[in-house]
Amino acid sequence: MSNFGNNIQFSIYQTMQNPDPNRLPIVFEEWEKKAREILEDGPYYYVAGGAGGEMTMEANLQAFDRWKIVPRMLRNVEDRDTTFELFGNTYNFPLLHAPIGVQSIIHEDGDLGSARACVEMGVPFITSSASTIPLEKIAEIMGDAPRWFQLYWSKDPEVTASFLRRAEASGYSAIVVTLDTPMMAWREYDLKNVYLPFLIGEGVGNYLTDPAFCSRLEKSPKEDPTAAIMHWTKVFGNASLTWSDIAFLKEHTNLPILLKGILHPDDAKLALGYGVDGIIVSNHGGRQVDGAIGALEALPQVCEIVQDKIPVLMDSGIRRGSDVVKAMALGAKAVLVGRPCMYGLAVAGQRGVKEVLQNLIADMDITMALAGERSIGGITKSLLVDSKGEIDTDRL
Ligand SMILES: Cc1cc2nc3c(=O)[nH]c(=O)nc-3n(C[C@H](O)[C@H](O)[C@H](O)COP(=O)(O)O)c2cc1C
Repeated sequence: MSNFGNNIQFSIYQTMQNPDPNRLPIVFEEWEKKAREILEDGPYYYVAGGAGGEMTMEANLQAFDRWKIVPRMLRNVEDRDTTFELFGNTYNFPLLHAPIGVQSIIHEDGDLGSARACVEMGVPFITSSASTIPLEKIAEIMGDAPRWFQLYWSKDPEVTASFLRRAEASGYSAIVVTLDTPMMAWREYDLKNVYLPFLIGEGVGNYLTDPAFCSRLEKSPKEDPTAAIMHWTKVFGNASLTWSDIAFLKEHTNLPILLKGILHPDDAKLALGYGVDGIIVSNHGGRQVDGAIGALEALPQVCEIVQDKIPVLMDSGIRRGSDVVKAMALGAKAVLVGRPCMYGLAVAGQRGVKEVLQNLIADMDITMALAGERSIGGITKSLLVDSKGEIDTDRL
């Protein structure tokens, strides 16, 4: 889709003749502010808060500021190509909707609203293991649109195997295995607000409908929801996993497997050695290890190890188009968008998520063009300079 950004920009200017009283925000900070006005403390801080003193949340954003784009001129950027290929599929834009659990606490449209917005935009949706709506229902409303499934690797191997089977049967085309959450982190605001949505039955839709999970219960979740949720607390995560367990996943799915939460280059090396299909550099948006390295800081070294043998994606801190361009310049094939979509969902449900994605894509497309690049494949590190570095003069 060429000139996507310019088309959106012009359609926004056209509304000047006929101003819309229900106009949604454009500015990222205004989305967040509006979401704060709408949501109660519990759900708001569940989305906006991070682990501990939120140093890593901060580091994620600062890491983007450390790199500056050095635009080039007179390079014919009229017709642009934002498509990219992954696992044999062509996607319109280098963006995916990050896996986000418990979207039902944010807006009644919840997971289905976000998934529908992704269908409208041609953006792949990553269904979370912790969705409130079961993965099959999300798949059903998405038709043929691209979707991946995110696995929280349960302590019960039969539940894990069952989730993989169900995802495969429902047309999900890749599995994202989140490694950084074998247990909930120390999240000060959630503890202060005494807020853990799972305990009130949100975000457990995949478990309560899972035959393997339900086979462990004395009574069905309908008959005894409390016992079902208590069982969930016991099997949700698995802190005893090691690298050799990757073989279990490979035995139970033929889909490409991406590991989410890789930050250390040695873990990237292990991921290659254990034959996974992709890596997502992420610190879960600063929600797990407070004081952890910013995700963008970790990206270059991971990419250096991987050497394009498998795709490297990233998330944690993507807010604007220039963030996407910087992440790609540092080696990411694509990025995952998390909190911005959730603020969109809080403010205006499906329409809000669509608007956030559309604006982010337009901003990315225009930034790429103004920086002197016509296609996302042409974005390389030579586009950037770090705060101390020298400009690369070999850029063609
Ligand atoms: C409210 C919320 C719920 C999340 N739930 C999940 C989840 O279920 N599975 C997962 O892998 N990551 C989850 N994440 C992490 C996101 O996938 C992503 O890594 C993170 O949002 C990126 O940080 P950013 O949103 O600050 O850019 C969640 C994040 C938020 C904000």
